[in-house]
Amino acid sequence: MKKFISVKDVKDINALVKKALDYKANPFADKALGANKRIGLLFLNPSLRTRLSTQVASQNLGMEPIVFNVDKEGWALEFSEGAIMNGTTVEHIKDAAPVLGNYFDILCIRTFPGLQNREDDDGEKIINQFIKYAGIPVVSLESATLHPLQSLTDIITITESMAQNENFKNKKPKIVLTWAPHIKSIPQCVANSFSEWMTAWGEADFVVTHPEGYELAEEYTNGATITHNQEEALKDADFVYVKNWSSYSDYGKVLSTDATWMLTNEKLSKSNNAKVMHCLPVRRNVELSDEILDGINSLVTKEASNRVWAAQAVLSEILSANKK
Ligand code: CP
Repeated sequence: MKKFISVKDVKDINALVKKALDYKANPFADKALGANKRIGLLFLNPSLRTRLSTQVASQNLGMEPIVFNVDKEGWALEFSEGAIMNGTTVEHIKDAAPVLGNYFDILCIRTFPGLQNREDDDGEKIINQFIKYAGIPVVSLESATLHPLQSLTDIITITESMAQNENFKNKKPKIVLTWAPHIKSIPQCVANSFSEWMTAWGEADFVVTHPEGYELAEEYTNGATITHNQEEALKDADFVYVKNWSSYSDYGKVLSTDATWMLTNEKLSKSNNAKVMHCLPVRRNVELSDEILDGINSLVTKEASNRVWAAQAVLSEILSANKK
């Protein structure tokens, strides 16, 4: 693996999931793999899980992670080609990225979309320029359109949960991604990415449900069943993935805060005793109810814990493929 930006960088999803679960059983199995390697974790936006799980994963592989909160501690970066830098930006990505490429063996980056200009965000201007100018393997810690480490974690968590339930021996799971209300404009990254990984995985009946106007980009949901009827979608579901996202067609807008879309135990009773997932952070009793989050069907803590093993499997693949 030369980089990890989307599911397209993964040859075999199930093999990567197995690798992650092997690390969960034996975290220090490859402690020597990353010896004398440095990994830079660059954050242009806040994070709890992604930052800490990637640090732990790096250390489990024997690497020294160095975290740099670019948004708070770095020079303001310029990403536009030919910019006359007489405004607020101080350093061009063309100058900064090659320096980082010399300091580190792997560069991991988190950057959110601006949610102002769809073409700019779809073009992944920021992460693509790090890839272009750093000259070393780049791992997405969430980009303008995707959150691949989260989605790999989600499939790990689903696989692990299915292995503990013999009903899944001869049955494909029904997995539902449901939109949930939120008061702010939230990126589509997690929903895009979950859809992209689900359809590439191909081992589930995958349904996406949301109010009108919240259609995700077709390139991610091709192959999914899409419905505006949440009740119908939840019927017989085995896993329900809850997430808010802002509109893609009316880009970045909050078109609805309809509280009836929030998942409750009553809604869940129509499912097949579904396990409930969310990437966190979550706004309690806005996006997801206390009764679900604190209930026995919630997988959210396990899911967040599994972020370590997803990161470790990906970093291990990159280290193995780039051994000097
Ligand atoms: N799920 C997730 O990416 O969490 P953080 O934003 O805290 O990293």
